[in-house]
Amino acid sequence: MSSSLCAPLGTRRGRGGYVEDGSSRQDVPIVVREGVYLTWEELWVTMSKPSGKDGKKAIILESQTGYAKPGELLAVMGPSGCGKTTLLDALAGRLNSKAKQTGDILINGRKQALAYGTSAYLTQEDAMLTTLTVEEAVYYSAQLQLPDSMSKFEKKERAEFTIKEMGLQDAIHTRIGGCGSKGISGGQKRRVSICIEIITRPNLLFLDEPTSGLDSAASFYVMNRIARLNKTDGIQRTIIASIHQPNTQVFQLFHNLCLLSNGKLVYFGPASAANKVRIWRSLVCVSVQLLSCVV
Ligand SMILES: Nc1ncnc2c1ncn2[C@@H]1O[C@H](COP(=O)(O)OP(=O)(O)OP(=O)(O)O)[C@@H](O)[C@H]1O
Ligand SMILES: [Mg+2]
Repeated sequence: MSSSLCAPLGTRRGRGGYVEDGSSRQDVPIVVREGVYLTWEELWVTMSKPSGKDGKKAIILESQTGYAKPGELLAVMGPSGCGKTTLLDALAGRLNSKAKQTGDILINGRKQALAYGTSAYLTQEDAMLTTLTVEEAVYYSAQLQLPDSMSKFEKKERAEFTIKEMGLQDAIHTRIGGCGSKGISGGQKRRVSICIEIITRPNLLFLDEPTSGLDSAASFYVMNRIARLNKTDGIQRTIIASIHQPNTQVFQLFHNLCLLSNGKLVYFGPASAANKVRIWRSLVCVSVQLLSCVV
């Protein structure tokens, strides 16, 4: 099933979801039309260890604090297993039931849920029907996700625009393909997944490793398209993306950087400050930690 068909952000009421605001209870998720300022403070995520173990909880994320602003791209970086996906899941309210989350996550300064279509989450793995063409995959997604108030023609137009936006027009009639039936390339598959997620024009976009498995040129292409989204449709979108080993060109697209190591926050601030000694020292620490895991 497509990741776009997962429960929408903020509609979950489980342990990992948003906490209702005790002072001003809102049962109906509100639609945020303006930009989304997302802030999180003292965010901790723990997981119950398998039964039979010492009964303690494993700390996955420790004391995370940060923010993401409309019109900006926040990159979440760090070695494998440091908690990037967990942070995105926690912020998107989609942690699984084994996880316990504490701390505050605020949307435009308040604890509240977002309505369907306001946010989208691109999962780390592409999950699409391999027999569909690019056009069919995006068009069917438009039919399923866009409101009934839009006509079929408008939905088709939106699908076509989104396909062009992601630079997929040349592969529009190619099958997605999978194991045993070659179809579009890995980079194009990633971009189809992004198309499916952005079709509703969400204000808040979570992208988990949008460039995984791509070479540096394809990574730049995908990230540049994502960074340009705000310019092409004029929506001041808040984008949070986890990413592995970006090259210099990709790195320059980030406004802010959240660097994690072993669940702890190493650096949060402007990506442009990464050339300062402090951040490089942090990166060295992360690399050393990664090496010690590998050896
Ligand atoms: N359901 C779970 N139960 C126990 N531990 C978990 C669970 N989910 C994640 N973890 C652990 O939490 C840590 C962080 O996982 P996470 O998937 O967030 O890492 P990541 O930074 O996204 O890694 P990668 O770059 O490989 O995708 C890992 O050590 C992982 O084993
Ligand atoms: Mg991950």
